[in-house]
Amino acid sequence: MGLTTAVPATDGSGTRRRGPDAPHAGGPRGRAARALPGLAVASLVANIVIIATGGAVRLTASGLGCPTWPECGGGSYVAHSELGIHGAVEFGNRLLTFVLVAVVAATVAAAVAARRIRPGTLGPAVLLLAGIPVQAVIGGITVLTKLNPWVVMVHFVASSLLVAVGTVLVLRTRPRAVPGPRAWAVARPLRGLARLVGLVVAGVVYLGTIVTGSGPHAGDLAARRTGLDPAAVGQLHADLVMLLLGLTVGLVVAVRTLPPEHRPAGAARAAGSLLGVEAGQSLVGAVQYATGLPVGLVDLHLVGAAGVVATAVWAVTALRAPVRGRPAGQLTPETRAAQTT
Ligand code: HEM
Repeated sequence: MGLTTAVPATDGSGTRRRGPDAPHAGGPRGRAARALPGLAVASLVANIVIIATGGAVRLTASGLGCPTWPECGGGSYVAHSELGIHGAVEFGNRLLTFVLVAVVAATVAAAVAARRIRPGTLGPAVLLLAGIPVQAVIGGITVLTKLNPWVVMVHFVASSLLVAVGTVLVLRTRPRAVPGPRAWAVARPLRGLARLVGLVVAGVVYLGTIVTGSGPHAGDLAARRTGLDPAAVGQLHADLVMLLLGLTVGLVVAVRTLPPEHRPAGAARAAGSLLGVEAGQSLVGAVQYATGLPVGLVDLHLVGAAGVVATAVWAVTALRAPVRGRPAGQLTPETRAAQTT
């Protein structure tokens, strides 16, 4: 008879745990806890992929390929030859919803099973699942209002919120993430700057959707536009991006110049990544503007917007640390270690 040795596990507070609640345990909870990080990443990626494919629907003018909802058209729930290539593209995107449901439902199931090992993960996982029917209904209203640009914007903003929630879930399921309540680990001015960066990211994304709603890629040749001057809204969008870049440079410098004992270890990397993603996204935005909005670059700009949202969530949450009965601004060694991952 072979003997097995239980691998001690730590819950991040330094307490060693054994038995069915340890992440390394072999039971269903241990297996669920091990599967959860991968499933969380898959859920985030699936949400970003559906942004890209939804963009492809709009950019190939297939937004009304299925002219009704929830049916596709002509009394049928599936695309048929009379609806042509646009029907196939739009219906293909509707089918992807089922892939998203499968991935996110598996994530929720793992978060339920692992809720004692990975507290704080069930909430975001359930939010991701709840977001799917909400998005299906907004998508339906988009079709029924014949691609009203203000409704299309709500559809994109909701997707951005799901990307933010998915990022929180990924961060909370990292193997060395410390469970439990968190608080700001930096002084008030830096918190204010981080909040401002988050707010301006939201403003840039929303203004971007207004530029799109005023521009040529409506999703259907007959779809109405906002009536706003695309050049003027585009200029405002780019101006706000300049402000965002400036604020993010400030965030990077502020985090890097913190004394090491007061600097959350992952914070410098997160802020630097945000600046890098913003710079890349700005380059794509500028090139697509200068080259007459080619569809490939516009779709890349959509995915880039999701990337900016995700890294902004990372950069802001990296300035928060688990509460350990210490005043904000002071980090425990184990918190610093946990944040290096
Ligand atoms: C951090 C940087 C940026 C972010 C997060 C961002 C975000 C966005 C978003 C979310 C959209 C709407 C996408 C859609 O609904 O299809 C958009 C559209 C747009 N952005 Fe940006 N953007 C950034 C930088 C820029 C820059 C620097 C420029 C130009 C100088 C630019 C030019 C445009 C244009 C022209 C559109 C409309 C595209 C269309 O008509 O389909 N963006 N942006």
